Amino acid sequence: MLVAPSLLSADLGHFDRDIRRMETAGADWMHIDVMDGQFVPNISFGLPIVKAARSSTKLPLDVHLMMVQPERYIEAFAEAGADILTIHYEASLHLHRSLFAIRQAGMKAGVALNPHTPVSLLSDVLDCIDLVCLMSVNPGFGGQSFISSTMIKVQALNQMKQHEGHSFLIEVDGGVRSGQGEALRSAGVDVAVAGHAIFSAEDPRAVVLALKGTNGDS
Ligand code: DX5
Ligand code: ZN
Repeated sequence: MLVAPSLLSADLGHFDRDIRRMETAGADWMHIDVMDGQFVPNISFGLPIVKAARSSTKLPLDVHLMMVQPERYIEAFAEAGADILTIHYEASLHLHRSLFAIRQAGMKAGVALNPHTPVSLLSDVLDCIDLVCLMSVNPGFGGQSFISSTMIKVQALNQMKQHEGHSFLIEVDGGVRSGQGEALRSAGVDVAVAGHAIFSAEDPRAVVLALKGTNGDS
């Protein structure tokens, strides 16, 4: 399982240092949460932060757009350096077209589902998706509690993936704690996003390794 620290929990006054800390901790991707104050009741950061992260790390940038009409900014996020661009199902009127546009712009196409949105709604676009992000909190803030019913959605999505032979990655985002590694991995999660759990830890590397289920020797 890959681990993607959420930079929402980083100290923007020491952004470069915090990215370095995450690299040292064994992060696979950097997760960047863009919030517009409309789709979610919070405003975080936008294109300049993606550009800053791009110049600080070679790790893939996993950009999660919590914004209305995300199709307006697909090209801009590609130019800023995003590798994976995830848009919300609930915010995309023409999801199929937007996924195509993301791939056309040279990025991997992700779709995020809010906790209330069933995975079955994706059945007709799974061929166009590189990553499905299951929100395990209501999006908008870091440091919330994991919604346990997300695990049922992970299992249902993994079944669709296996039965239909798809290759998209399953990502879980929100409230992930270090002790959940085994449960997430065995349910079929490919990417775990974690903000508070990693950034607030005295030893971020221990949290990353616990999620991955390795002792760091391999
Ligand atoms: C929530 C964000 C998450 C969040 C994860 O709106 O999409 O990526 O930052 O942070 P934690 O792990 O603190 O819930
Ligand atoms: Zn996120």
